[in-house]
Amino acid sequence: MQRVNTAGKTATTLDLGAVSGPLMIFGGPYGNLEAVTAVFAEADRRGIPGDHMICTGDLAAYCADAQATVDLVRARGVAVVAGNVEDSFGADLTDCGCGFNEGSACDVLAASWYAYAARTIDADAKRWMRDLPRTVSFTMSGAHIAVVHGGVDQTNKFIFPATSDDELRGELLKSGADGVIAGHSGIPFSRIVDGQLWHNAGAIGMPANDGTRRVWCSIVTPGPESILIESRALDYNWRAAAAKIRTAGLPIAYADAVETGLWPSDDVAPPADRARRGRAIAESALRWSAPVAPRATANERIAAP
Ligand SMILES: [Fe+2]
Repeated sequence: MQRVNTAGKTATTLDLGAVSGPLMIFGGPYGNLEAVTAVFAEADRRGIPGDHMICTGDLAAYCADAQATVDLVRARGVAVVAGNVEDSFGADLTDCGCGFNEGSACDVLAASWYAYAARTIDADAKRWMRDLPRTVSFTMSGAHIAVVHGGVDQTNKFIFPATSDDELRGELLKSGADGVIAGHSGIPFSRIVDGQLWHNAGAIGMPANDGTRRVWCSIVTPGPESILIESRALDYNWRAAAAKIRTAGLPIAYADAVETGLWPSDDVAPPADRARRGRAIAESALRWSAPVAPRATANERIAAP
């Protein structure tokens, strides 16, 4: 697959060019080595090679195997979008930059896992994180798709299933793409807004707050005139992942989350998404065609009456 950095080593966009085979897209490994091993086994089962895989970022967080997870993803040759975690480690910052409300449960817990991961990850991995692109783009079945971490121009923006169409419309406009695939918020979903696609691949390293232990990835498959976007749940060795969290001295709230499928706190989510806490998410498949009409640029739309 072609890989072009649009502005050299410090490029913010990595363009994969035209993609003719299925892509596997996953987000939020969070140092969960067992889950990443499972997603790669699923890729092998489907015959999807590493250069047809994209990670939406946040390789190291709540779970115990930060360095090993980074090493495994790098060795596989996966295209990785810089998440807020990679931004923070790459710049040697003192916090994860998740965007949690100050003093919230997640904010307090983050101080612990961030310090653990910062001690665990080596200098070479931090240098690699510093050079990761903000966007990975590709073309499939005539559609141009941008893969980002959170929002299009704000890495730590939380976009959830209950985020409004207006907000998604604004994000899609900024992207200049026909569709956007994101991560960060940890819940898989798909939405079509004015014919454009917003898809969240969810997270592989932590359950989706739906009361099940499953973790999520997406399979994006080209067709003659449309693309099939599948949200797929994976079972994995969650017992081992939880045990390692406890042994490492990380916050046991995350071991509990791995074991119960419920986050320690969901106060970053809109009320409608918090109301769905503990309700099992169904796998889904969506067939989507890019809009036929030319995309308006941000300037054109802003100038319109
Ligand atoms: Fe994130």
